[in-house]
Amino acid sequence: MRSRVIAGNWKMNKTPAETREFLESVKERISRADARVFVFPPLICIPEAVEVLKDTDVCVGAQNFYYEEKGAFTGEVSADMLICAGAKAVIIGHSERRDIFGESDELINLKLKKAVEKGLIPILCCGESLEIREAGTAAAHIERQIKSAFDGISAKDAAKCIVAYEPIWAIGTGKTATSDQAQEICACVRETLKSIYGGSVSDVIPVLYGGSMNAGNAAELVACEDIDGGLIGSASLKEEFADIVNV
Ligand code: 13P
Repeated sequence: MRSRVIAGNWKMNKTPAETREFLESVKERISRADARVFVFPPLICIPEAVEVLKDTDVCVGAQNFYYEEKGAFTGEVSADMLICAGAKAVIIGHSERRDIFGESDELINLKLKKAVEKGLIPILCCGESLEIREAGTAAAHIERQIKSAFDGISAKDAAKCIVAYEPIWAIGTGKTATSDQAQEICACVRETLKSIYGGSVSDVIPVLYGGSMNAGNAAELVACEDIDGGLIGSASLKEEFADIVNV
């Protein structure tokens, strides 16, 4: 049985004080759900989030890190630093990191390897642009992203990962993929994982959908066979996040 996962990616939103206020208000509702719940606040809000959620099963993670141990990497933080701050998970390969900050498939692979080595739970993101979708090559693109990200990762480590399919054209646009579109690509993610690791591993890796998921469309999306939950952006900043968790 795969676990259900609902994760909130706050992106560059909320101060530490706002983090505390928001999490205090949703804490009870997000911690008694029948799902693994993650929140990914901005880096400096992680200690605040960890403190507020300390008596719950809600897992606090980081939106990014750098794969080196330490050294001259201005502006970066290491996996060990995140762990010291109380993070238990990390988002890797989000399309905003790939597109705005130029992260390559090679870098994403190095980050995924380091995250599993350090015991951080990775949420590995993949997704196609509108151009790729319209060209009819979305599935091939996703297969390539997954194979590249998991290159050199053992079956044992892969089984600890979570994958999120986030079509770029659905992120922050209010334009959600239909459940058929989302299911098709999430099934492709699982097939690709099966081709690398076999069914015993691909069957336990949660595959999430992300892209304008909200309290109104979450139930239909997570009812799909290969969609095990959601990676939520803007709706995770509001009380609505608790509604989605309880869906
Ligand atoms: P939205 O839910 O705001 O579309 O963002 C999705 C996302 O990018 C989550 O990582």
